[in-house]
Amino acid sequence: MKEKFYITTPIFYPSGRFHIGTAYCVVLTDCIRRYKKARGYDTFMLTGLDEHGKKMETKAAENGVTPKEFVDKMAKQAQDLWKLMDIGYDGFIRTTDEKHVKAVQKIVQKFLDNGDIYKGEYEGWYCMPCENYFTETQLVDGKCPDCGREVKKMKEESYFFNMKKYEGWLKDFYKENPEFLVPESKKNEIFKNFIDPGLEDLCISRCTFDWGIKMPNDPKHVLYVWLDALTNYITALGYMSDDDTLFKKYWPADVHIVGKEIIRFHGIYWPIFLHALGLELPKKLYAHSWIVMKDGKMSKSVGNVVYPEDLISRYGVDSTKYYLLRLMGFSQDSVFTPEDFVLRYNSDLANDLGNLLNRTIGMINKYFNGIIPTNLETKTEFDEDLRNTAKEQISKLEKHMDNLYVSDAIQDLWKYIARTNKYIDETAPWILSKEEKIEELKAVMFNLAESLRKVAILLTPYMPNTSKEILSQLGIDEKDANWDNLLDYDVIKPNTKIISQGKPLFVRLDQNEEVEYIKSVMKGK
Ligand code: MSP
Repeated sequence: MKEKFYITTPIFYPSGRFHIGTAYCVVLTDCIRRYKKARGYDTFMLTGLDEHGKKMETKAAENGVTPKEFVDKMAKQAQDLWKLMDIGYDGFIRTTDEKHVKAVQKIVQKFLDNGDIYKGEYEGWYCMPCENYFTETQLVDGKCPDCGREVKKMKEESYFFNMKKYEGWLKDFYKENPEFLVPESKKNEIFKNFIDPGLEDLCISRCTFDWGIKMPNDPKHVLYVWLDALTNYITALGYMSDDDTLFKKYWPADVHIVGKEIIRFHGIYWPIFLHALGLELPKKLYAHSWIVMKDGKMSKSVGNVVYPEDLISRYGVDSTKYYLLRLMGFSQDSVFTPEDFVLRYNSDLANDLGNLLNRTIGMINKYFNGIIPTNLETKTEFDEDLRNTAKEQISKLEKHMDNLYVSDAIQDLWKYIARTNKYIDETAPWILSKEEKIEELKAVMFNLAESLRKVAILLTPYMPNTSKEILSQLGIDEKDANWDNLLDYDVIKPNTKIISQGKPLFVRLDQNEEVEYIKSVMKGK
């Protein structure tokens, strides 16, 4: 039986169009899912929308519609984008789903029954966009510590979750599971700012607005949006519903992918809620960093927002995903610039990868009438080195992917591509042809086709369409290109016929023209 792998994205506030930062989070999750699937896991990817709360209520009012009408429209927009981006999610949760609402109320009832919740009065500094209260000491320069915006002093009757009760347990848990939250730097931050100074009880209800899930025992209270949101990871699988088959099969999550600014909720409250429910904890929490612009955060008012649709319509979906995944390192913010986007497109995609396929196709057509020759016998020092590089880079790539170092894994793959390009220069097939060294020429062509078969397999998590296109141009059946036979050399069938006229995978771009295009769409022109 296949081992299961359950991976999630955060659920997004559907308050406007999603930019490449939001898209990155989903692309990254989907890439890891594809990798695990290729490695033989039974995968389940969950994404969705966080549709309740004051922010959504306000947005709907601004648009002159009801909150439900607003989120319905936005949900369609989000799903259309994930379709365009070829995201293969298995579950899409909306927190307005009836199944979710009912389950959340049952969860809260369980907390009430356990004595985890009490009624009190909350007074604190409230950040409206973040839907979050802060204590005086948590503010940074009098502003919201998460987003840096203005906060307002507010007071209301509220229910509280007794976090203090679980503080000791949480600390022990982290001690016993030092790899639970990565990167380490993000873990240190939440310890320094929230755990070490002592946990505050969490206010989990509001009476000042209406758009949310009602407290089961006191319906004038609406549940705090984060409690509602975090539980999506289990309610989507049917926890506390009539059918919890998926929950039994996939929980605990193998990885929650989240952005760095929401790590406190996932690294403190979520483990405590789960523990209070008597459930297993997720195996890993990965807090990725942000895609930022030269002038800071992406913002409409600055005119520096990049939307994925604008890149996809011009450069294709695989190139866009490639760029985002390659750009973002494991633990630091990365800067998007139009110049870098075009440079990478030209160098990595058009030159390194595109040319490798094109040259190979061209030579097999020229020297062997479009039939991939077979010669596994001749082994020059270049052949040996090419094979060793393949083995080494594949093993590095796998290790990096297993540790979620996706950009590093891509770089491992590109080293192999570069090595294969160099192999063409070293073996100089045009000279072998001139000197009629046919057996050697056969070996070189075979090794090139075989390298490209391996490259196509390795590309599946990052650029699935490109992977298919490479195989199709080489006439290799997709069934003959998978992780199980990745290291083999006897898979390409004798007499395999390649495409007679190679089609460029990526057409070289004019640097200036394309930089101007990207800049213009950033300004909304
Ligand atoms: N609704 C909450 C999450 C609840 S999960 C139980 C939320 N939503 S959000 O729409 O504001 O953000 C969703 C995710 O997008 C976050 O993980 C956030 O880090 C990510 N990103 C938003 N802008 C980003 C970049 N510029 N770069 C990378 N990721 C960014 O928070």
